[in-house]
Amino acid sequence: MKKNITCIPGDGIGPEIVTEAKKVLDKVAEVFGHEFVYKDILMGGCSIDACGVPLTDEAIADAKAADAVLMGSIGGNTSTSPWYKLEPSLRPEAGLLKLRKSLNLFANLRPAYLYPQLKDACPLKEATGEKGFDMLIMRELTGGLYFGDRKTEEVDGELVATDILVYRESEIRRIAVRGFDVARKRRKSVISVDKANVLDSSRLWRKVVEEVAKDYPDVTLEHMLVDNCAMQLVKDPSQFDVVLTENMFGDILSDEASMITGSIGMLPSASLNDTSFGLYEPSHGSAPDIAGQNIANPIATILSAAMMLRYSFNLDKEGDAIENAVRKVLEEGYRTVDILPKTEENKFTRTACSEMGDLIAERIVNS
Ligand code: IPM
Ligand code: MG
Repeated sequence: MKKNITCIPGDGIGPEIVTEAKKVLDKVAEVFGHEFVYKDILMGGCSIDACGVPLTDEAIADAKAADAVLMGSIGGNTSTSPWYKLEPSLRPEAGLLKLRKSLNLFANLRPAYLYPQLKDACPLKEATGEKGFDMLIMRELTGGLYFGDRKTEEVDGELVATDILVYRESEIRRIAVRGFDVARKRRKSVISVDKANVLDSSRLWRKVVEEVAKDYPDVTLEHMLVDNCAMQLVKDPSQFDVVLTENMFGDILSDEASMITGSIGMLPSASLNDTSFGLYEPSHGSAPDIAGQNIANPIATILSAAMMLRYSFNLDKEGDAIENAVRKVLEEGYRTVDILPKTEENKFTRTACSEMGDLIAERIVNS
């Protein structure tokens, strides 16, 4: 199979981790007899520096023309980088939001799974680590507060900032359908997260989710308020299977869910539209403080490549091969610094970013 993949190395650790994901994909191509053709485009701070905007129309066209997009990370230090002195629509993150909207990537899948090998890295009680957890956050990605009109103006001698939160029934329905569909392939439970005790957008969310649930009598539905959900995630994460939620809540809860897996450096994500096209990226950011040191954890990006094989190319066996290879290196005790337990460092092998890519690539087999 021949596939065209547009890559967005981006900023910070982005270029390092995308290099490792390509290394692993190349090994998959070799072992399974496929051809992956890559084209790099600029997005984020590097695009601002080169082209004056965080994402050009040509880059959007290149992304659209591919079979899938593989991304590293974008952005810099928000307190010190000159990119954050620009007006908001010209900052690095605006490029990513524009790309998601232009490609209609409304469904963001963020799995949070505690690898048994990493249970010591879970910051929660030992019993929680023993029990394990495996959830999938289904985050709405092209609506809500991040895409409503916003402005800052002077009213009666002081600054007033407004951000509008809008959800249409159709936007809620299509993400709910995705959530229930994926729940059917998992443990058949959806917890829909909202703030229906305060927000109208959440009350509409709840109503539409309940309508969609009628078509899935085999899947259980529970509603949970977002503040309670934030608490339940650290109290007993094993209660969650599919977490269905709107854009901002999903942004916040997915960082929380990823941290309890031991490191935000482990979690992949897929952003999908109505076709098989998708954008695949780690859930973490660009970590500018460790960029260029070859110490970043490339596993989230490598696992994002596995999601790409599954969701966009229908290559399940190849996706399994990557996930098994990741499990294998963890079992063998290789750890990038973010997942290296401080107290038992001598039990593990401290591994650089590029080495981690080599080790995973070496373990790709067609079994
Ligand atoms: C994420 C990020 C983005 C978001 C930023 C970079 C715009 O935090 O993918 O979670 O808020 O969606
Ligand atoms: Mg985020």
